[in-house]
Amino acid sequence: MTTDQPIPVIIDCDTGVDDALALLFAVRHPGLDLRAVTCVAGNTDVDGVVRNTLTVLEQAGAPKIPVARGAERPLIETVRTARHVHGHDGMGDLGLPAPRRAPAGVDAVTLLRREILASPRPVTLIPTAPLTNIALLLRTHPEVTRNIERIVFMGGAVATGNATPVAEFNVWHDPEAAAILLTAGVPITMYGLDVFQRVLVPGTDVRRLRASGEPGARLAGELLAHRGPATGEDDPAGGLGDAGAVCAVADPAGLTTHRLPVEVNLAPGPARGQTVVDRRPRAGESEIHDGIREQTLVDVALDVDVRRYVRLYLETVGG
Ligand code: BDR
Ligand code: CA
Repeated sequence: MTTDQPIPVIIDCDTGVDDALALLFAVRHPGLDLRAVTCVAGNTDVDGVVRNTLTVLEQAGAPKIPVARGAERPLIETVRTARHVHGHDGMGDLGLPAPRRAPAGVDAVTLLRREILASPRPVTLIPTAPLTNIALLLRTHPEVTRNIERIVFMGGAVATGNATPVAEFNVWHDPEAAAILLTAGVPITMYGLDVFQRVLVPGTDVRRLRASGEPGARLAGELLAHRGPATGEDDPAGGLGDAGAVCAVADPAGLTTHRLPVEVNLAPGPARGQTVVDRRPRAGESEIHDGIREQTLVDVALDVDVRRYVRLYLETVGG
């Protein structure tokens, strides 16, 4: 792929305060060609996700990007929203206007298939949500992988979880779907909590964005302010969250990844939804006695250049 052509991307999201930050970045970065956005239940119910997504795209000045409604619930689990983090409306209760347009007349899986196969160059998929839509796509239309360059997903954790002590929300919400994603047969990058939580925009920049006269930049400031820690500071820093995964597509050099075996724990119990990442330098007793199991290799993000991604985000969205 030549570097002077924008990368065709599709975001599958559960907008979501930080999904909204990701959308704002994707529509404004000149190196990305956002071809479609698909919605799935996660941070809030799927109809709320559709509404939030359409509103963000309108505020960002990109009202024509196709948006489709996807899965209402995970493959097996029930819906377990994160409204305590993202507000009652799933997007910070900022009082944003209702969108003026309706979503596409096709479901998310149909739109994903159509846009992936229609793209003149292989698409990079960026799921920033539970992986239900992507699993349904891979099972319904496996031929799409021939035109997928790679999948960069926000999800999982090498170290500590957030939904549980060991499981990250997107994987925990639909572990079976995440397991299907890992067998997609295309290169996969895991942008997990280990890097996700580190990319913080300083409070002074958040305040500057909030004061902007440009609606997209101002919205980014409001969303970042919502993501600040409840420390009582006047200008708390705000996390880029899901937007960091999109930065990693626009500027891969800011991310340090290692190719490692990754498996999703599907067993009931306290470790369900954990991404088990094998960082051992050599085989252990399990392999010596029981043989080596086949496992997917994933480019796991272990470090991130925080200043680089913050600067990239502010230059792209802040004007
Ligand atoms: C993930 O869960 C959601 O709350 C965020 O939008 C992000 O995608 C982090 O665990
Ligand atoms: Ca999300």
